[in-house]
Amino acid sequence: MKKRCVLLIAVLVLVTAVALSAAEINQQEAVASKAVGLLGQEMRKKLTESMQKYGPAGSIDVCAKDAPIISSRIENELGVTIKRTSLKIRNPHNAPDQAEKELLEALESSLKAGGVLPLGVTAFPNRPRRFYKTITVEQTCLKCHGDSATMDEQVRKEIDSIYPEDKAVGYKAGDFRGIISVSVK
Ligand code: HEC
Repeated sequence: MKKRCVLLIAVLVLVTAVALSAAEINQQEAVASKAVGLLGQEMRKKLTESMQKYGPAGSIDVCAKDAPIISSRIENELGVTIKRTSLKIRNPHNAPDQAEKELLEALESSLKAGGVLPLGVTAFPNRPRRFYKTITVEQTCLKCHGDSATMDEQVRKEIDSIYPEDKAVGYKAGDFRGIISVSVK
């Protein structure tokens, strides 16, 4: 009888722990979604405004200087770390860490095998507290990430002078560009 009681309690404790951790993961995912949404929205707004006002050559700063400023504000506000990363990077500072590299490679191979990218904010496989959202190349991105041979010369020169090791060119609209990666503390 006693043994059964202990077993029952153990099961109850386990069930509660699982339920609690599921709630905690949902909570983390909500924070990650908020962070990704804010970064996406604000970058898009800044870039669109700047491209209209100053053209692509005058907007290189938006991707370069505004992204880290916007990111660190979101990090402080929500208690997360957030970055944009890719297998083909422009700024070495945005290089993927091991988990991001593995994920990006897995997504690339899944695409090659005819798979589709996950929509929305998704958990990293086997990496607690880490979430991502995929980034797809749009028409407006091509002015700075498209074919370097046909890119505006001034833009190409400016990018080359700031990022001599640039790999983030040669994209077409609809291509998989990378991820927004979030760690929830
Ligand atoms: C006006 C030029 C310009 C446009 C337009 C532009 N980018 Fe960028 N992009 C840059 C620059 C410059 C960097 C390097 C930023 C840095 O120094 O962190 C960059 C970096 C990135 C990164 C970070 C990874 C890396 O390669 O360093 C991603 C992701 C990215 N861009 C995606 C996009 C997407 C998606 C679009 C279209 C919605 C876009 N960019 C439009 C200039 C541009």
